[in-house]
Amino acid sequence: MVKRLRYDKLTVEQVELSGKRVLLRVDFNVPLKGGQVADDTRIRLVLPTIQYLLARGASRVIIASHLGRPGGKVVPELSLHPVARRLETLLGQPVIPVDRVVGPAVKEAVTAAPPGSLLLLENLRFEAGEEENSPELSKGLAELADLFVNDAFGAAHRAHASTVGVAGYIPAVAGLLMEREVKTLGRCLENPGRPLVVVLGGAKISDKLGVVNRFLTMADYLLTGGGMANTFLVALGYELAASLAEPDLAAVARELWEHSRHSRCRLLLPVDLVAARELQSGSPTRVITIPPGTVPAKWRALDIGPATTEEYASIIAGAGMVIWNGPLGVFETEPFHRGTEGVARAIADSKAYSVVGGGDIVAALKKFNLSSQVDFTSTGGGATLKFWEGRELPGIAILKDRH
Ligand code: 3PG
Repeated sequence: MVKRLRYDKLTVEQVELSGKRVLLRVDFNVPLKGGQVADDTRIRLVLPTIQYLLARGASRVIIASHLGRPGGKVVPELSLHPVARRLETLLGQPVIPVDRVVGPAVKEAVTAAPPGSLLLLENLRFEAGEEENSPELSKGLAELADLFVNDAFGAAHRAHASTVGVAGYIPAVAGLLMEREVKTLGRCLENPGRPLVVVLGGAKISDKLGVVNRFLTMADYLLTGGGMANTFLVALGYELAASLAEPDLAAVARELWEHSRHSRCRLLLPVDLVAARELQSGSPTRVITIPPGTVPAKWRALDIGPATTEEYASIIAGAGMVIWNGPLGVFETEPFHRGTEGVARAIADSKAYSVVGGGDIVAALKKFNLSSQVDFTSTGGGATLKFWEGRELPGIAILKDRH
């Protein structure tokens, strides 16, 4: 039986904010290029919470985030300074960058800032205590504020000092983005439009075993591509040569395949693949039909093929709801974008309610100019997958219950 988790948490809308110092945890783990923010989707989506806190009279909003995986050390390239500049531009109001995460200088900066100020702490993961969920760091963060607001849905699956530990010391509630993510993703599981079509791609099946299992019990179609489909194909005996796959998981994949034959859900594997020897734009390609599904030695599958794209598109055209995580090919390098683009266009053209998650899909939709064509873009990667698996997310569980 699939466990159903319902979160009903207090949000910023149900607590007194006037005169409060608010510690706002966000997920500003955004891609950087040449010292600039390359995609600000995650920043834009938190703006309503920041504006709400300021409009309701919060005396200071102290924003905290991680960026990348610096491993408890200061890595200058992972400083949040470029994020502070972008946030400032988007909000049209000054953001005070603070060079540390906790300590006397940070307390001083918070006290010295005029009422209604916004401060952005330095990368939380520059502190070793963050990922260890250390009581010292949790306390240090809590001492900066009267109220903790968690709007970092993307980091809610991590039990870190800034997502869980801090909530042991000051009252903790959800931000507006967190609330929207939980409500929307929860509704998809509770009451999905039918037929429910789930598209799963991406490099690894190991990241997605839990979601595959879950959706096999509740979706109507599970359409696969990318490295994860390759693992199924290898498990079923096809020769995929140098293609990305996880042969160690062949037995698990075979079991899932068997399970799917008795489930309500149709699990679809690609009926053709586009392969090349080099992952380079313009390198010669071949369409490999399955069966026989034999990729030549040293070649690798880099996209789903045209027949698969067409089949998936026609299933999506009849969907009531589409959930999508993980690209179906190496969409960044042409012509291996075609499968991912075909599926994205089918979703854009369909009347189905569509929910997508993961940074790769956000980037793919942007590349194809289709970002506005999906109904809901989750800011989570791993967190969204865990949510769909039905696992408890510690960063949400720790927040105050509404009742
Ligand atoms: C993400 O990008 O999925 C979140 O920011 C979490 O990042 P992490 O996987 O490094 O914890």
